[in-house]
Amino acid sequence: MQKQQKKYKIAVIPGDGTGPEVVEEGLKVLKAVSSKCSFEYETTNYDFGGDRYLKTKEVLPENALAELATFDAIYLGAIGHPDVKPGILEKGILLTTRFGLEQYINLRPVKLYDKRFCPLKDKEPKDVDFVVVRENTEGLYKGMGEFKDKGTDKEVATQISYNTRRGVERCIRYAFEYTRKRNKKKTLTLCGKTNVLTFAFDLWERTFNEVAKDYSDIKTDYAHVDATCMWMVKNPEWFDVIVTDNMFGDIITDLGAMVQGGMGIAAGGNINPEGVSMFEPIGGSAPKYTGKNVINPLAAICALSMLLNELGEAQAAELVENSVINVAQNKLKSLGAGRMGYSTTEVGDLVVDHL
Ligand code: IPM
Ligand code: MN
Repeated sequence: MQKQQKKYKIAVIPGDGTGPEVVEEGLKVLKAVSSKCSFEYETTNYDFGGDRYLKTKEVLPENALAELATFDAIYLGAIGHPDVKPGILEKGILLTTRFGLEQYINLRPVKLYDKRFCPLKDKEPKDVDFVVVRENTEGLYKGMGEFKDKGTDKEVATQISYNTRRGVERCIRYAFEYTRKRNKKKTLTLCGKTNVLTFAFDLWERTFNEVAKDYSDIKTDYAHVDATCMWMVKNPEWFDVIVTDNMFGDIITDLGAMVQGGMGIAAGGNINPEGVSMFEPIGGSAPKYTGKNVINPLAAICALSMLLNELGEAQAAELVENSVINVAQNKLKSLGAGRMGYSTTEVGDLVVDHL
């Protein structure tokens, strides 16, 4: 019997700044790998982002989430525009999509592809290879809190970290499953702050210890978030998988991005294991490099590799990642924008050639 050919439906949101440039390269790679691995796909473009907002005063059209929910995956460039007040697009597009589509995991691999790209002395690719599983719908990102007496000298501003047993548990379970599937050091580290945040991380720690009972093959560890930052720099080789809340995950993954060689290479997936997931380079819109053909597209291409994995095209995902590794190791002078020795489009072509 012939294998039933599925045609993947992919929503593309190029977004702001350098987003469109890097997404273009990712799509070039998608085209090449799809013919090599013989799968079919179709893309639908969405113009969500700063320019659309400035024209229409609307961040997301009403039916946007319902429409996005009908795709097999979403490929995102970047959100953030210098002429729009910080927070409007980030909350209105990125966080709304993460929350609305229940993409409750933010998966961020931290992997060094070449010793030259690591700012840490004496660390090599074998030392920097871990994954952060960041909770993606709760915590401080929930938007709970208030001002009291705003603008007066008695002003109080609160911002609440909102953690549900259900939200924490599904994130932790995903992290255990992921650690098992990854099958490397089989070690899951909970990153928290149990010595100060004695409500939120008490829930996290209790849940972690309970869920751990279902995974006797996985070693567990705990580190406070400040210590996690220290170890990420001093002994990144200790980590296999780290699970943490939304805010801490946001912070430690920027540190992770630097340890793996910078924003030019760091990718992430906003994952709903039962629904539609969205993949993005984590570097942002980089306004100062926009339109110059100098931004590094490898992070977006790594995001594409993650997207292919989530679709179940593991072989295509691996081909893409290996091509990125090859190009990074053998061609690029640096991973930084304007310092690669090649333009954005040339780097995309190099990846396609290697495929
Ligand atoms: C990220 C970004 C976002 C976040 C911003 C743009 C809202 O920093 O994806 O890490 O804080 O989650
Ligand atoms: Mn961030």
